[in-house]
Amino acid sequence: MIRVEVTAQSRAYSAFIEDGLLQRAGKTLTQLVGEHKNVFVVSVPQVKRRWGKALLASLSSAGLRTRMIQMPDGETHKKLSTIEKLAGQLVKLGANRDALLIAFGGGIVGDVTGLLASIYMRGVDLVHIPTTVLAQVDASIGGKNGVNLSLGKNLLGTFYPPRAVLIDPAVLSTLPQREFRAGLYEVLKCGVIGNPELFERIRSSSIRDLRRNNEEIEWIIAEAVRLKSEIVSADERESGLRRVLNFGHTIGHALEAESKYHRFLHGEAVAWGMIAATQMAAAVGTCNAQTAQEIISATLGLGPLPTVTVQPRHILNMLASDKKVKNGRIHFVLPKKIGEVEIVDDVPERVILDAVGALRRMAT
Ligand SMILES: NC(=O)c1ccc[n+]([C@@H]2O[C@H](COP(=O)([O-])OP(=O)(O)OC[C@H]3O[C@@H](n4cnc5c(N)ncnc54)[C@H](O)[C@@H]3O)[C@@H](O)[C@H]2O)c1
Ligand SMILES: [Zn+2]
Repeated sequence: MIRVEVTAQSRAYSAFIEDGLLQRAGKTLTQLVGEHKNVFVVSVPQVKRRWGKALLASLSSAGLRTRMIQMPDGETHKKLSTIEKLAGQLVKLGANRDALLIAFGGGIVGDVTGLLASIYMRGVDLVHIPTTVLAQVDASIGGKNGVNLSLGKNLLGTFYPPRAVLIDPAVLSTLPQREFRAGLYEVLKCGVIGNPELFERIRSSSIRDLRRNNEEIEWIIAEAVRLKSEIVSADERESGLRRVLNFGHTIGHALEAESKYHRFLHGEAVAWGMIAATQMAAAVGTCNAQTAQEIISATLGLGPLPTVTVQPRHILNMLASDKKVKNGRIHFVLPKKIGEVEIVDDVPERVILDAVGALRRMAT
């Protein structure tokens, strides 16, 4: 079992990564948090159907009294009224301050359950068992949670570190191919910002081979978790260092918002954002043409992306009103070489427009 430490301001916790860990979740949890009387697993129907039995069997064989509650699937349910409904179910089931909530699903379940755990009876224990690539390498690490308002994404939330994160790459076997790929773009991102070997191993393998190779997936997930953990441990509240994790996200977020979150999965929008940032880097001289080509072809090599049709000027206008603008300047994370990035706030407007315009001509 691979164990990665994450240090949050309020406490440290571990992420455990192991193929088949779900079957041993009960034993692992009782060793970590003791014999909690009341465990409440929060999930969605898709995940419960495929993996619910295995998790419940493991928890009950370790002597944990467990109930499962559900929320509907999808980003539209990542909102405050879902939290209220789940909290109501917890009250009815008798959950008190000793309750342990387990977020069992993708990033949406993680965000909703994280926020719920942080405010239910002023805070109860939380454990993440993430079941998508994105949730395993990104959303479950770092203690951020949140829900959307109709005015924007993730506008309500808290920092609330879990007691532990249990990552079982085996549960990814049932993940739809598009979701799997979307998560891998975030892993590729980790490679570019700080891990050349990770970059190389994703670049040189096909998705089909990867999905058949549990050992390789386990290694890849663990490396990405390690990188994110190091960064958030050094900068939990995103004051500086944590911003490198936004490689690909400046343009990516704008593409998602512009298409009203319908056209792209998050990771797909980030993939386009990484390509655009890499082109900017080559244009302003942060990286050389060869590095840029390597990053772009590795990204496109992961498979088809929904095409970009937006007018570049529209994206530029959106960026100008985005939260990543500080003192009127748009910040970009640009690659220097594979494994190193820098934050640049003076990319000329023309270069931004060209980079976004080029996405429109790119076939995947
Ligand atoms: N808190 C953070 O730091 C952070 C970081 C990144 C993203 N996020 C949030 O994460 C969310 C996206 O997460 P996501 O990409 O995991 O999406 P998701 O939670 O919607 O999961 C994607 C789909 O896969 C299904 N699914 C999950 N696990 C499965 C499995 N093992 N087998 C089959 N189907 C499965 C889900 O039911 C869903 O339909 C966004 O709301 C985003 O804002 C949060
Ligand atoms: Zn992301």
